[in-house]
Amino acid sequence: MSPAVFTAPESVDSSPTWTLHPQHDPFTSLRGTVQVPGDKSISHRALMLGALAQGETQIQGLLLGEDPRSTADCFRALGAEISPLNRELVTVQGIGLGNLQEPAEVLNAGNSGTTLRLMLGVLASHAGRFFTVTGDRSLRSRPMGRVVHPLQDMGAHIWGRQGDTLAPLAVKGQNLRPSHYHSPMASAQVKSCILLAGLRVEGATTVTEPALSRDHSERMLAAFGADIQVDAQTRRVTITGPAQLQGQPVVVPGDISSAAFWLVAGAIVPDSDLRLENVGINPTRTGILDALQQMNADLVLENERWVAGEPVADLRIRTSSLQGCTLCGDLIPRLVDEVPILAVAAAFARGTTVIRDAAELRVKESDRLRAMATQLQKLGARVTELPDGLEIVGGASLLGSEVESFDDHRVAMSLAIAALGAKGTTTIHGAQAAAISYPEFAPTLQRLLASEHKPSP
Ligand code: S3P
Repeated sequence: MSPAVFTAPESVDSSPTWTLHPQHDPFTSLRGTVQVPGDKSISHRALMLGALAQGETQIQGLLLGEDPRSTADCFRALGAEISPLNRELVTVQGIGLGNLQEPAEVLNAGNSGTTLRLMLGVLASHAGRFFTVTGDRSLRSRPMGRVVHPLQDMGAHIWGRQGDTLAPLAVKGQNLRPSHYHSPMASAQVKSCILLAGLRVEGATTVTEPALSRDHSERMLAAFGADIQVDAQTRRVTITGPAQLQGQPVVVPGDISSAAFWLVAGAIVPDSDLRLENVGINPTRTGILDALQQMNADLVLENERWVAGEPVADLRIRTSSLQGCTLCGDLIPRLVDEVPILAVAAAFARGTTVIRDAAELRVKESDRLRAMATQLQKLGARVTELPDGLEIVGGASLLGSEVESFDDHRVAMSLAIAALGAKGTTTIHGAQAAAISYPEFAPTLQRLLASEHKPSP
């Protein structure tokens, strides 16, 4: 019997639509092992620090999504030699801090906020050179003032629309001044931008944040030889420059933000048992595990270990009856990219889930609160949009429908997981966005669905 349950394009990049037709109504029994792709945040940083270092950086396990490709293309244009991207081994011949070339073309960060915001810190501190940067339609509407204004306070010359807050931006590199920036938001992109600018500053550059955001930049900067001090208690990071970075080997762990889709799929699809191998479990990223445990998920961490300065584990998830919960406060930065898929988990949980303090979701690749509320409502979920979150009354029966990703990768994949628990056919428009962070998502889902009703592995 041919399963024919999931119609995805041969190349996910080329087709904008996914259709899920459950053969059993709804889907049952997701079983198997998944190697999730490399961590997106770590992939960006490995390419950037490798480009800014002296000597060679060898990267294993790089994410081959569109976002790291944007970073690689920008830093090639700035003079780094980066080998063709592949998962086995990418080599970066660094140019050395201070030696960036002035590119003849506009640097295009595509859809990637991390590329654009982190790169701005690097460019602003390269005195005597002029750069122009832009991104796709989504990125050109996302707030850049959060990095431009603190850089300007350090002496940066950056210009753009609406008070220098929107790309395209023009940057005239300067010798920047030391500073202590008290960031109003827990954002790793803001923190990392200022720290990267601080690499070329004489003296101390400090960032204090209101809650701890992901700390991959701090870990990798230390590994590349920067003088960096972290005080986790006061959430204060100081980098003392000028620095010299030395190329390093980097092993990129699997992305917990990509694993999150399978964690929720395994929890909500009846009779499921999934093993996700080699997933990064840096504590600044594991809010999703805490949230699912609060929701009564049957989730076990196995084989915990360290790989190149980052903690890693295999995650096993089995079906369970989820319960609603409240997600707010300092937990939010630790699961900021997982709110869309947690909204799906909540729709299948007993009781009410309230997500608060998550207004940042409105300025991601799409307004993710609006996107998830409106699209889950189309499937029949009881979701109320709050100014800074969502309220979801779980347990409504979902019915397949036509939904829209708003060209947001995490929205597309979250809706595909929601469709697994819906009766009837769901069509997801704008599904090609998944290639930003997880090009193999559709084939992986196809493979797991093909195992429907096979005996346990
Ligand atoms: C990222 C930081 C987060 C996250 C984004 C990746 C990073 O953004 O949402 O996907 O790699 O630094 P914010 O810093 O804006 O919260």
